[in-house]
Amino acid sequence: MSAIPDHTDVPRIDLRGFTSPVHFLPRLSDELGVEVWSKRDDLGSVGLAGNKVRKLETELAHARALGATHIVTEGSRHSNATRAAAAAAAAIGMKCTLVLCHDEPKEPVGNLLLDALFGADLRLVGDASWVELARLTADVVRELEAVGERVYRLPIGSATGRGAASFARAYIEAEEQMEAQGATFRTIVHASSAGSTHAGLVLGRALRQKSTRIIGVVVAGEVYDDVPGNYLRLANEAADLIAPTIRIAASDIELTEAYLGKGYGQPAAGVTEAIDLMARLEGIVVDPVYTAKAVAAIIDMARKETIEGPVLFWHTGGYHAIFDPSYTAAVWSDLPRLRDIQL
Ligand SMILES: Cc1ncc(COP(=O)(O)O)c(C=O)c1O
Repeated sequence: MSAIPDHTDVPRIDLRGFTSPVHFLPRLSDELGVEVWSKRDDLGSVGLAGNKVRKLETELAHARALGATHIVTEGSRHSNATRAAAAAAAAIGMKCTLVLCHDEPKEPVGNLLLDALFGADLRLVGDASWVELARLTADVVRELEAVGERVYRLPIGSATGRGAASFARAYIEAEEQMEAQGATFRTIVHASSAGSTHAGLVLGRALRQKSTRIIGVVVAGEVYDDVPGNYLRLANEAADLIAPTIRIAASDIELTEAYLGKGYGQPAAGVTEAIDLMARLEGIVVDPVYTAKAVAAIIDMARKETIEGPVLFWHTGGYHAIFDPSYTAAVWSDLPRLRDIQL
C-alpha cells in the first residue's frame, strides 16, 4: 500500500501509460564499486518522455479543470519542458503556444523540431533573459485571451507545487519497485534545474519517513536568485496539496553545483566520461545538458567514496540533445574512441 493515495487531492491525466521501470546497472556498478540502479523516467509514451511528463499529468489536469483549452509556456529552443508540453497538449487535444528564447539551434533539430512537429505555435523571441522571457510570455497570453482563447499559463518547467506533488508520488513508486526486487536505495541522484523534481522527491521521502540522501545535481545555476529557497517553497506547496501536516525544512534540500561546469548546456568535467560509460557499459544514453552531469556526480563521488550505495540514478530523460549538432560534435570530438573513426 502506498503511504499516500494516488493523487487523491491532485487530479492527474495519465500521459505515460505505464510505470517507468527501475533496474540494476550491473556493469556500471562493477566499474564504480558501488551498486547503481536507474529509475527510467526517460521512457514513456508521450513526447519521447522525460521527467516533465509526470508534472504535466497534474498541471494539465488542473488546466482542464479551470476550463482552459490552450496551454502557453516558455523556455529555450533546447527546452525539454516545452517539447513535453507540446506533445502532451497534442495527446489530449489542447492547443499549445511556446515562447522560445535563444538563437540556437538555427536548424530545425532536437526539441525545436519536435515542438513544431507536435503542432505547437512557436513564438521565437531571440536572446532574452528569463525575466524578459516571462514578460514576453505574459504579453502572448494577453494577446490570445483578447481573441477569446481560454489560456492556461504553464509555469516554466512546470515548477509548481502541483508538479512537485507528482514527484512525491514518484518517490514512493520507485521505492515500491525496488522493494519488489528485494532491494532498497540509500541515495538518489538526479539532474536539477527549476526544482519540482527535487522538491517532490524530498516530500516523498518525508511521506515515507525515510533517511534516503537525495542529491540534486544543479545543471542551470541561474534559474532563481535563491535556488534552495525556491525548491523549499515548491516542496511545501506540494505538501500543502497532498500532506498538509508535513513541513519540509531547508536542511532537507541537498543541491550540488560541483558538476555544473561553465553553466547550463556548457561543458563540465566528467560529462564525456559519463556519456561514454553509460553508453558502453549499459547501452543507456545520457545527454550533455542534464543527465550526464548527474551521472558525472555519481562517478566522481563513487571514486572519492563520498556516496553510499545502493544509488538510484533518476534518469530524467532529455537525450534528444545528443542529436543536436552542437552537442553531437562535442561528444564526437571529446571521445577518443569516436574521434578516431574515419567517416
Ligand atoms: C532531462 C531533464 N532533467 C532534469 C530536469 C530538471 O528538472 P526540474 O526542473 O524539476 O529541476 C529537466 C528540466 O528541464 C530536464 O529536462
